[in-house]
Amino acid sequence: MNKKAIYPGTFDPITYGHLNILERSTMIFGKIILAVSDSISKKTMFSLKERVFFAKEETKHLDNVEVIGFSELIVNFAYKHRVNILIRSIRSISDFEYEYKFAHVNQYFMNNIETIFLLPSPRLSIISSSLIKEIARYGGNLSSFLSENIAKAIFQRIS
Ligand code: COA
Repeated sequence: MNKKAIYPGTFDPITYGHLNILERSTMIFGKIILAVSDSISKKTMFSLKERVFFAKEETKHLDNVEVIGFSELIVNFAYKHRVNILIRSIRSISDFEYEYKFAHVNQYFMNNIETIFLLPSPRLSIISSSLIKEIARYGGNLSSFLSENIAKAIFQRIS
C-alpha cells in the first residue's frame, strides 16, 4: 500500500463523480496526488487557483491525498513527483476512445507510465462538469452532483 498514484484532471469544478474515483483510489494506493491541470485549451469557469482551492476543501477528510495544480505535460509532472501511475475514469465508450489516445501519448513520452482505469459508480457515471454547469444555467438543483459550497460558487459565477 505504499505505491503513489496521480489522479489528473481539469476539475472545473470537482464533483461527486471525481470524489467517487478518488476515494476508491485511496483504498488501492498509499498516496494519491490529485493533479489539477491549468487546461489552457479549455475555457474553464474557475481559475486554476479556485479549482485547487475547491479540490483541497473537498478532500480534507482524506489523509493520503495531496492536491497540486500544474501547468505542464502530465508526464513531466509525474516524473518530477517520481510517480508512474495515473488514474483515470471511464464513464462511457466515448471516454474510452479519448483515454486510449491519452494513455498512448503519455506512454510515448514516458515509457514506464501506466494508466489505471476505474468505472465511476453507476449513479455518477452520467455527470460531467459541463453538464452540471448547464443544469445550473437553467436553475436546476445540483445537490446530487457536488457540494453545497461549490454549487453556490457556480450560481454566483453564472449570475
Ligand atoms: N465523474 C464526473 N465527471 C468526470 C469524471 C468522473 N469520474 N471523470 C471525468 N469527468 C468529466 C470531467 O468533469 C470533464 O467534464 P467537462 O469536459 O464537461 O468539463 C470531462 O469528464 C473530462 O475531464 P478530465 O478528466 O478532467 O479530462 P480533461 O480532458 O479535462 O483533462 C488532463 C485531462 C488534464 C489530465 C489532460 O488534459 C492533461 O494531462 N493535461 C496536461 C497536458 C498534457 O499532458 N496533455 C496530454 C498530452 S497531449
